[in-house]
Amino acid sequence: MIYKIATIPGDGIGPEVIAEAVKILNVIGEKYNHEFEFNYVTAGGCAIDEFGVPLPEETLKACKESDSVLLGAVGGPKWDDPTAKVRPEQALLGLRGELGLFANLRPAVLYEPLKDASPLKPSLVAEGIDIMVVRELTGGIYFGERGRLEENGVEAAYDTEKYNVNEIERIVKLGFETAMKRSKKLMCVDKANILESSRLWRQVVARLAKDYPEVTVDHMYVDNAAMQLVRKPSQFDVIVTSNIFGDILSDEASMVTGSIGMLPSASLGSTNLGMYEPIHGSAPDIAGKGIANPLATILSTAMMLKYSFGLVKEAEEIDNAVLKVLSAGYRTGDIISEGKTLVGTVEMGNLVAEAIKEGK
Ligand code: IPM
Ligand code: MG
Repeated sequence: MIYKIATIPGDGIGPEVIAEAVKILNVIGEKYNHEFEFNYVTAGGCAIDEFGVPLPEETLKACKESDSVLLGAVGGPKWDDPTAKVRPEQALLGLRGELGLFANLRPAVLYEPLKDASPLKPSLVAEGIDIMVVRELTGGIYFGERGRLEENGVEAAYDTEKYNVNEIERIVKLGFETAMKRSKKLMCVDKANILESSRLWRQVVARLAKDYPEVTVDHMYVDNAAMQLVRKPSQFDVIVTSNIFGDILSDEASMVTGSIGMLPSASLGSTNLGMYEPIHGSAPDIAGKGIANPLATILSTAMMLKYSFGLVKEAEEIDNAVLKVLSAGYRTGDIISEGKTLVGTVEMGNLVAEAIKEGK
């Protein structure tokens, strides 16, 4: 079977980490007799430079015609003006919207060999961190009506948080399904004490909960959730929430693990076509130096194998290889600690590749 992967290296460290991820998929392909076909396309800042738009038609077309999308990172200081008409992030929103990727899975895991990396006191992370943020991705305030107006001669602006029942239902359902596969605990984060859209979420959650009697459902206001994530991260397992709350909480959840360079993500829709990317962004300060951590992108390919291609065993093989390399003491600069061996981007990729080849 040939799997077609639209590959978007993007900006900053994107191309460097993508190269290692491609290396790993090729090793998996060889070992398990799969063919991965990489179709390289442009999006983000480099697309603005080359084509004047962040998401060229051709790129979108290539993504739609693929079995999945692998993305490095987009953005950088060169295109950072928030008042500019064309901005790299528009590529991300365009891809999410156009490909119908309504769900964003962001695991935040404290890896055992990296347990000292958390910025939280050891006593707070003693019970570990293993959170799955299920973020709504194509609705809410990101896609709602926005604009400028004048109020009694004063300039004003607005953005709209709007969700319909269908949009809520499909993401909450995925939250329940995800909880069923894990510890059967679902935390719904909202601001139902203030927002009408949150109250509609709660209604939908209550209705769907009847279909999942085994799942324990809890609700938490987003301000409290932000606090609880640093007070006792181990209390969370699956969190389901809206686009903007998920944006904020997933950054926080990843930070408490202390290794943002380790965390992958999957954006999923109603077909098998998904988009997979590290959550760390383009890190322009270290771009081109060969020191970026490729593990988040490599772990994103594991999510791709699992969620888009159903290759669960191959995905586990990648996860295990990464753990093995970390356990052997190899670290990129972002996760280095005393007594460990510092390696660069390519070397880290090679180590994981070797571990897969050696694995049974
Ligand atoms: C993310 C990012 C994006 C978002 C930006 C770059 C548009 O922060 O993927 O979390 O807000 O969704
Ligand atoms: Mg974000």
